[in-house]
Amino acid sequence: MKRIFVTGGAGFIGSAFIHLILRETSDVEIVNFDALTYAGNPENLTGVDETRHTFVKGDICDKAAVLAALPDDCEAIFNFAAESHVDRSISSADEFVLTNVLGTQVLLDAARARNVRRFIQVSTDEVMGSLPDESNLYFTEISPLKPNSPYAASKAAAEHFVRAARETFGLDTVITRCGNNYGPRQFPEKLIPLMISNAMNDEPLPVYGDGRNVRDWIYVEDHARAIWLAFERGKAGEIYNIGARNEQYNIDVVKAILDALGKPHSLIKFVADRLGHDRRYAIEADKSETELGWKPLTNWEEGLQKTIEWYQENQEWVAHIRNGAYRDYYQKMYGASLK
Ligand code: NAD
Ligand code: DAU
Repeated sequence: MKRIFVTGGAGFIGSAFIHLILRETSDVEIVNFDALTYAGNPENLTGVDETRHTFVKGDICDKAAVLAALPDDCEAIFNFAAESHVDRSISSADEFVLTNVLGTQVLLDAARARNVRRFIQVSTDEVMGSLPDESNLYFTEISPLKPNSPYAASKAAAEHFVRAARETFGLDTVITRCGNNYGPRQFPEKLIPLMISNAMNDEPLPVYGDGRNVRDWIYVEDHARAIWLAFERGKAGEIYNIGARNEQYNIDVVKAILDALGKPHSLIKFVADRLGHDRRYAIEADKSETELGWKPLTNWEEGLQKTIEWYQENQEWVAHIRNGAYRDYYQKMYGASLK
């Protein structure tokens, strides 16, 4: 059995990764270490093979807890745990610095202390900032780091610590940088699940600014598969960009969701823009395709349809979230503009 340590495995992408790996391998055991913040949800793990999955509730900033949970003879740490929402980082960045920066450093130290064979840092294209509108420029692995939001700055800082662990101590590290994920079990603070859930409830859909910001969308399982391949085939010390060559204007995404649900475009409400709103993300994924032998398997139309169906079929999952602390967040974030 290969033992791996996954942090943030009760979140959106971490849980998709765990579902995928337990389904597609028979010789991997996972310790899933997650603090269960507002974004962590044990319901995301319903149906995983419990004989090869151990859940440990803990904070990646807590060195003793990490060392206690880390299995002996560990093949890899996959660091998904993070504060992940840009708008929340604009309201307050403290937690972002703690989890995303300090937490990553704690995990790097633990990896060295316990001779973990590889450290996979799940990073983001946002560390590279914003690309000009409708240009033919793309993010590559050598694009400079120019984070614009506190969230992106914390993820860029984490990358620097990963690099330093490689350069200073020779730790075997790999960094992956992916674009915007969508799919089942995404917390409805992010664009696609927020719009699906509001549309299903006939509530207004808040679109920031002119709606012409571009994001490069990828189905979550394709991202999860790329991370696994980066572990298996990636070169130590390297960075791999992951993207499905699927640039979309926000307004087109929102209209596609309304159309798929048979709801009117009149539900769209343009609201004040996000501060420092990155205009465009677009990823050149040549290196992952060539060196990892990866390619996305789910196209945009199919992925969006599957995602919408998941939310339609899992209204209880959404209701549990919408009934909790989410209500206060939503009120604070959108209350005034959607009146
Ligand atoms: P998410 O917010 O859905 O989940 C984050 C998970 O981390 C939650 O389960 C939460 O409980 C856990 N967590 C938070 N703080 C923790 C702490 N201190 N200790 C232990 N666990 C903690 O996030 P996501 O969208 O699944 O993103 C996962 C990772 O992928 C993040 O590192 C994010 O930066 C990166 N990423 C996300 C996207 C995207 O589009 N969502 C794209 C590229 C990269
Ligand atoms: O690119 C990867 C990143 O994608 C990840 O690193 C982040 O963790 C993830 O949150 C995501 O960041 P974005 O800021 O791009 O995602 P979000 O879903 O918050 O917003 C997508 C776009 O939609 C963005 O241009 C802002 C816009 N938007 C978002 C919300 C929540 C709206 O217009 N209205 C909204 O209510």
